[in-house]
Amino acid sequence: FDYSFAVDDVSKGEWATFMDKEIHEQPRAVAETLRERTDASGLLVLDELRIPAHVLREVDKIIVIACGTSAYAGQVARYAIEHWCRIPCEVELASEFRYRDPIVSQKTLIVAISQSGETMDTIQAIRHAREQGAKVLAIVNTPGSTIAREADAVLVTHAGREIAVASTKAFTAQVTACYILGLYLAQVRGNKYGDEIADYLAKLSEVPAKMERLLGQLDPVVEVAHELAHSASSFIFIGRHVGFPVALEGALKLKEIAYVHAEGFAAGELKHGPIALVESGVPVVVIVPTPRRPELHRKVVSTIQEVRARGARTIVIAEEGDASVEAWADTLVRVPQTPTLYMPLLTVIPLQVLAAQVATDLGYDVDQPRNLAKSVTVE
Ligand code: G6P
Repeated sequence: FDYSFAVDDVSKGEWATFMDKEIHEQPRAVAETLRERTDASGLLVLDELRIPAHVLREVDKIIVIACGTSAYAGQVARYAIEHWCRIPCEVELASEFRYRDPIVSQKTLIVAISQSGETMDTIQAIRHAREQGAKVLAIVNTPGSTIAREADAVLVTHAGREIAVASTKAFTAQVTACYILGLYLAQVRGNKYGDEIADYLAKLSEVPAKMERLLGQLDPVVEVAHELAHSASSFIFIGRHVGFPVALEGALKLKEIAYVHAEGFAAGELKHGPIALVESGVPVVVIVPTPRRPELHRKVVSTIQEVRARGARTIVIAEEGDASVEAWADTLVRVPQTPTLYMPLLTVIPLQVLAAQVATDLGYDVDQPRNLAKSVTVE
């Protein structure tokens, strides 16, 4: 695949909606975000970061601040950053951050994630953090934006212009940038060494081709959307580990553009309450971890069995080759294999397509949903 052309074209081209177009631009958005960030030996070079390595070595806590879909990218980031760097990482909604009197010091690194770079809640949160001496690193898709200008450091996502209000390619580009940041911190702090970093990056660079392949095998998602658009009044999304924020994002997409009630839950929490919602015919979308992580996989498969036993209409997103889920899936969507931490880049795509297709079938304007703005510049 050749991703070398710019992703900034603002016409829909062959696509019915900008959201469709942007969903299909995700392989390119990820590839562009990865481009030219390594040296000849495969190590990361992030000169643009502007925060010196000695400062990054001192960081003792990371707080990711964002809103909406960007906050779910932050939730994915936490798993990668804590695993690779062993730095405690919190994720906080920007609109809540200031009000809990957060503990922030000069050794705190604030990571602000924003597609637009103009979200007022996020701007106010980073101002509050900077007043207390924290360094702010912004992951933005808009280099000249307010957040980019006010931050100490910027990591740009190269998703190109995103026009549909519901974020798709900006999300996968943000998640990619978070992996780059996590690996870079591990590199400068000495948690991971040359070959390991290069290996992780090599596997990440295989993701765009896998996304491309996945985009070609989503007919089951379109079919289930046609089946349920006019009959289902509520959807449940569940996931575990990095699949949990993906479940939240899948539910958000459906609410945003199809106006269908949807909730995301951690798979393990279902039994502590939400399973009471499951009755005959309720669609439950399950993001299944790889069978190569049996401690995660086994439990999610047993959750599928539990909801199925209560009559749920299951839509199962599982890795290619995972036969264990076949008996419990009313709809089975296959995603290519990739390391667990990278799975959100793939598993989110069927959920985006599901929301877009349900919204289309219901006759809604997919790109301009009611009551929502692309960028929310008020608090
Ligand atoms: C709005 C948009 C969402 C977006 C959120 C955060 O609510 O409708 O799609 O995720 O703002 O925007 P940002 O530009 O800060 O990522």
